[in-house]
Amino acid sequence: MDIERDFVQLARLATTGTVEDVRLLMHRVLPLLGERRPDLAPEITAVLAGTSSGRPTKSKEVKELRPLPVDLDSRLELLYREEHPELPVEPTWPSLILTELNQFISERTQEDRLIARGIMPTRSLLLVGPPGVGKSLAARYLAVQLSRPLLTLDLAAVMSSFLGRTGNNIRAVLDYARNTSGILLLDEFDAIAKRRDDATDVGELKRLVTVLLQAIDDWPRTGILLAATNHPDLLDPAVWRRFDRVIHFPFPSADEIGRAMTVMLKEDTQTISRVTLDTLAILFEGRSFADVRKTILRAQRESLINHLPIEQVLKGMIPKLLEGQPRKRKIEIAVSLHSKGWTERTVNELTGVARDTFRKRSLRKTTPRRGTHAAKA
Ligand SMILES: Nc1ncnc2c1ncn2[C@@H]1O[C@H](COP(=O)(O)OP(=O)(O)OP(=O)(O)O)[C@@H](O)[C@H]1O
Ligand SMILES: [Mg+2]
Repeated sequence: MDIERDFVQLARLATTGTVEDVRLLMHRVLPLLGERRPDLAPEITAVLAGTSSGRPTKSKEVKELRPLPVDLDSRLELLYREEHPELPVEPTWPSLILTELNQFISERTQEDRLIARGIMPTRSLLLVGPPGVGKSLAARYLAVQLSRPLLTLDLAAVMSSFLGRTGNNIRAVLDYARNTSGILLLDEFDAIAKRRDDATDVGELKRLVTVLLQAIDDWPRTGILLAATNHPDLLDPAVWRRFDRVIHFPFPSADEIGRAMTVMLKEDTQTISRVTLDTLAILFEGRSFADVRKTILRAQRESLINHLPIEQVLKGMIPKLLEGQPRKRKIEIAVSLHSKGWTERTVNELTGVARDTFRKRSLRKTTPRRGTHAAKA
């Protein structure tokens, strides 16, 4: 054992290496030192136990003070770092998504238990879904729930017209993020993880994807890497496989939209009739939470500025939302409202669909088909 040489190496790694490198060196050297200096053995055991528990170490905290990586040309920072991220709105999670998010939170809050049994907690999540359904909000929610800083890649700063420079920027971002307790969010991930067989992509892009794949594979067990995309089809299949888990964010259902609207409207909800809320929720089916929020905000502004009851403003939006909908969709909406218990007259007034039309279909929906178990009974 050459303690002086090891000390120099430790100093080098502490200034230019990663926290993981320092840990590895400590795990190699400290047990040998413990044999030579039994008086230090208990302290050494405690240090080694601390570094394997997965908790941020002192050296990690020092690293967190490092300046953010910048693009060498523009000097723009490649990441936004939020020490204490906040939620812009109170999220309403569809139950399947909430289950996934809670499972992840539990794994990370109890990671010591998993690691002690030799089980790696989930480190990387791929969030997939159309625009405005809550992917970025989910990343923020996880950071808030786990009390970790949120590091968001600034795609505009990272992407250079020179692919080689983009590659270096991404490497710098990954290197920085690997060594902090922050959650790294690679938003618009498809832009950097395009398929490697794309005809326009050559050498450097392939290398870039390889760097990403390796980074996902080697992500430290204490770290969290999130990536979001609304173009999953553009992702290299190898990228999908690398993530520990993929969470799909579909467009919310009418029920989920209804719940989100009551949260968004807060105390205004009390002043709005059920029929208006139900109709809007059904009309918003197939749209994103972001669209719903925009409409509610517009209604709230209009109500305040023009001194009108919010109910009147929201109700006034219904004909516009129905306008231009194909007849088939209008009938579906009428059937949904009728099945929720609204009178035929109300449904007809709101949708313009003849009573006979939706009545017949509502009946067809509720009457069991001939030959089914219910019909036989
Ligand atoms: N589950 C939700 N509950 C309440 N509001 C939501 C929810 N999801 C999204 N929103 C609203 O929509 C806005 C946009 O959501 P977010 O930025 O998370 O979308 P996204 O899926 O990341 O979209 P993009 O693919 O365009 O980046 C949020 O700021 C919020 O107002
Ligand atoms: Mg987003």
